[in-house]
Amino acid sequence: MVPPWRLRQGRYRKRIFWKPSFDVLLLFDTGRESCCAKLLKNSITYFQGMSVLRTELCDLLGISHPILQGGMGPYKTEALAIAVSNAGALGVISTIGMAATLLPEAAPVDARRMFGDDPPLVLLQKSIEAVAKATKATRAVFGVNVPVASEFLMASQMFVKQVIEARESDSDVERQLRVLITSAGNPKPWAKIKEHGLLWLHVVPSVYHAKKAESAGADVIIASGHEGGAHCAWDPVHSMVLVPAVAKAVTTPVVAAGGFCDGATLAAALCLGAVGVQMGTRFIATQESDFEPVWKEAIIKREERQTLVARGLFGPMRFLRNRRAETIVEQTLSDVPRFYLGDHVDSNQAILQLEQQGFVDLMDGKEDTALMFGGEVTGRITSLPRVEELITNMIEEASTLLKALPSRVLTR
Ligand SMILES: Cc1cc2nc3c(=O)[nH]c(=O)nc-3n(C[C@H](O)[C@H](O)[C@H](O)COP(=O)(O)O)c2cc1C
Repeated sequence: MVPPWRLRQGRYRKRIFWKPSFDVLLLFDTGRESCCAKLLKNSITYFQGMSVLRTELCDLLGISHPILQGGMGPYKTEALAIAVSNAGALGVISTIGMAATLLPEAAPVDARRMFGDDPPLVLLQKSIEAVAKATKATRAVFGVNVPVASEFLMASQMFVKQVIEARESDSDVERQLRVLITSAGNPKPWAKIKEHGLLWLHVVPSVYHAKKAESAGADVIIASGHEGGAHCAWDPVHSMVLVPAVAKAVTTPVVAAGGFCDGATLAAALCLGAVGVQMGTRFIATQESDFEPVWKEAIIKREERQTLVARGLFGPMRFLRNRRAETIVEQTLSDVPRFYLGDHVDSNQAILQLEQQGFVDLMDGKEDTALMFGGEVTGRITSLPRVEELITNMIEEASTLLKALPSRVLTR
């Protein structure tokens, strides 16, 4: 249990005060095998009238809310990272799109059209500086996501080195850029990240991979279910099965990803043994996110049945359903049908060209033929809130639901 006086630390220090009434402060002790909500009936804390939902993840990362923004290429997610970190959760810069100029023959996006002429490492350095500057006043913490798929390794190494150098050369960056999230590959070579004072989070799609990440020394394991947007695993395991299984199999703190979007799903993640959630699709449809308007609208319009999985650049990808996604599925079925049996088949030129044209159509705002990734949770998203409003509502809703849980259990 977190002692209430610790809430006075960090960025909330000046805003918390004690009030003599019988309202309750909710604090959650989220051991991975049991999650218990404890009500402190006599100590009354308000944070601007808002419930506080604090888990081990908050203390570990130095954030106020147990919510991470997932890395989301092809964008840098710079504006989104700023908004998320300033709202007290963890904003994350995404690097995968920045690397497109290094892999012009294999990348679906035209990095120059997207980011201009800066080379990848300059792009990353500028993003780090921009996020650090825009979040300095709130003393917020942020992270960088580096996918470590085998196709991407050269770029991964360069980006990790750049993150380390950026921290070493600026004390503000060192204090704020606290987290590096690796994904989509073997965790083992990346344990060295920790030697440089960074917290190392790794994304996994199964219990097997979670154990590997734990033995490699990851500080937090992000268990990402198959319903999530964009890159997903060859073997489909969804969050409801994956998260409790991983939480039981490892002692490392677990964050749940794939299908999370509101207070109900956050509360559910805690009940499943996670210490927080990572969200992708939900954050795309926010006012501050860097994504094209056509993409945000597509998420708001779609129901949960409207996603498709097909062979993409780094393995299976979940697309928002439109004519482009259907064509990529048709091409996958025609050229590499064993993909749908979980065989690790290579992508091909025809699929790549469909993706490249889809990217051009995205930039031109053509909804039906644009290349757009998204999770099944698209069906639960119907609004375009500001990031702070989204996070505040999530915390309120999760707190209210967890507080009400005992009354929903009939004792006789
Ligand atoms: C458009 C899009 C791009 C993504 N790109 C990345 C990426 O570059 N690196 C990564 O680790 N995960 C990536 N993801 C996965 C997210 O970080 C997150 O784990 C996932 O979206 C969670 O599932 P949800 O979409 O149901 O919230 C991406 C997801 C989306 C929707």
